[in-house]
Amino acid sequence: RYRSRMTAIGSYVPERILTNAELERMIDTSDEWIVQRTGIRERRIGEPDEFTSRLAIRAVQNMQERYGVALHDVDLLLVCTSTPDFSFPSTACLVQAHFGIEQTFALDLSAACAGFVYGLHVADGMIASGMHRKALVIGADALSKIADYTDRTTCILFGDGAAAVLLERTDDPRSEPAFFSYTAGSDGNGAAHLYRSNTAASLNGAPLRGDGKLVQNGREVYKFAVQTVPKGVAELLAQAGLTTADIDWFLPHSANLRIIESICDKTGIPLERTLHTIELYGNTSAATIGLAMDEAVRMGRFRDGDRLLLFGFGGGFVHGGLLMRW
Ligand code: ACO
Repeated sequence: RYRSRMTAIGSYVPERILTNAELERMIDTSDEWIVQRTGIRERRIGEPDEFTSRLAIRAVQNMQERYGVALHDVDLLLVCTSTPDFSFPSTACLVQAHFGIEQTFALDLSAACAGFVYGLHVADGMIASGMHRKALVIGADALSKIADYTDRTTCILFGDGAAAVLLERTDDPRSEPAFFSYTAGSDGNGAAHLYRSNTAASLNGAPLRGDGKLVQNGREVYKFAVQTVPKGVAELLAQAGLTTADIDWFLPHSANLRIIESICDKTGIPLERTLHTIELYGNTSAATIGLAMDEAVRMGRFRDGDRLLLFGFGGGFVHGGLLMRW
């Protein structure tokens, strides 16, 4: 089994800020309601032509500027997204073409807000198997493009953003594996509670909203999250023979501050050791965990050897967690 390590990270959010005050002028809502129920104060919204591929490319450019990494030999390129520019070609192909990467296995990975963790899971597994050496994993979503800005129960939550990381195979057999414990699961029975339909107009005979807008039953998603994530965290820790006290940083998906607080309460992970971007970026789906990770890197928060617990969850329903050593 080969080992991978994370060698670079970058991120990007659009400049345009959409504040709660602006939303107050668009729909029947209030800053107080949004902050109290979700913890969100503002989110970033891309320009009309700022699709997911552009967010992804900007995040990779940011990584290149800071780390000077070469991309020509990337042999695995994953774009984790639920808002691909097209059904096909993949967003990954658009990124591949932009950077002129010659030969690469490029694909989009659809795991909603668990996308970034699913992407790391797949990339580390492919590197561990010996099939690939250098993986570019991008979590990117342009949720403003599919949010319904007449639906106050959903549009307040979402924003646009992207994060990119590079995983490289290390041939040093003494190096510790960066990723050392995984958990993941899916439950398609939750499909009707959180979806965006491209073509389907019904699910198991029940009619769906088929106009390409995001649909959510917030209470069901909330219940799913606060039940599934604490169990998954316990599983991950037990597998690794660790307790919450051994975790230096917890990076949960930023969906809602109340969900994060509830998870911390149930698992015993202190809120002070939790990194999220909910307040300023809202829910950027596959980008949230990478954005929080990059923010921590820029602030110099991680020390060598720190143990990070990443946990994503979202539409599907799907969930995925992993433990990594910095
Ligand atoms: N402003 C003011 N009032 C509102 C708003 C709003 N933006 N939205 C809903 N309300 C009203 C409702 O109409 C309802 O009014 P009523 O009592 O008169 O019917 C009342 O507020 C309470 O509504 P609830 O839906 O019960 O509110 P809740 O406390 O559940 O909060 C929320 C809603 C924030 C959406 C919450 O359910 C939630 O965060 N759920 C999880 C969402 C999530 O994490 N989604 C992302 C998953 S990841 C992915 O894959 C995309």
